[in-house]
Amino acid sequence: MRKLAFLAVFALGVAAAQGDGEKLAPYYPTPETVVNKMLQLGELKAGEKMFDLGSGDGRIVIMAAQRFHAEAVGVELDKDLWKSSMDKIRKLGLDKTARIVNGDLLKQNYSSADLVTVYLLPGFIDKVQPLLDRQLKKGARVVSHDFEFSNWTPEKSQNIADDGEGRSHTLFLYRK
Ligand SMILES: C[S@@+](CC[C@H](N)C(=O)[O-])C[C@H]1O[C@@H](n2cnc3c(N)ncnc32)[C@H](O)[C@@H]1O
Repeated sequence: MRKLAFLAVFALGVAAAQGDGEKLAPYYPTPETVVNKMLQLGELKAGEKMFDLGSGDGRIVIMAAQRFHAEAVGVELDKDLWKSSMDKIRKLGLDKTARIVNGDLLKQNYSSADLVTVYLLPGFIDKVQPLLDRQLKKGARVVSHDFEFSNWTPEKSQNIADDGEGRSHTLFLYRK
């Protein structure tokens, strides 16, 4: 699927979504190989704190805790995704270093973050930016999958070629 078609499908998912907070993207998981690249690009180190804003099935949080030995927090609006991702974290024995908050990502505090990851729709992603501008400490990094923050300039971007799933990916790294 080309990027524009993907964007249309992605946007339709938001239009169809129901829920309490504002839905900033539908559930559309990042492939595991891309998750690894996001955390590498974000220079995540052992003991650092990371947040995934809209954590879906928890795959970014789980990899951050399991493979990168970080303290990882996801925020997810959808109750079923929150529950299933917390169940997975418990089953993997990661509950000391990983957790998911069931809530609106626009209503959380990210001031302790060393790294924030996002995979949210254009337009919607810019609703997060003022919050991160206010809360993030100096030197904190933000990695966005596929969509750019319109008022920030990325320090780096990385293209990831289609490896057979039918689409390529772009990652953007920002540093406060
Ligand atoms: C495109 S998915 C990304 C999931 C995961 N971060 C990944 O990359 O695999 C976006 C996720 O954000 C969640 N979401 C959308 N708006 C939200 C909000 N206001 N607060 C918390 N989660 C939200 C959706 O339910 C969905 O699971």
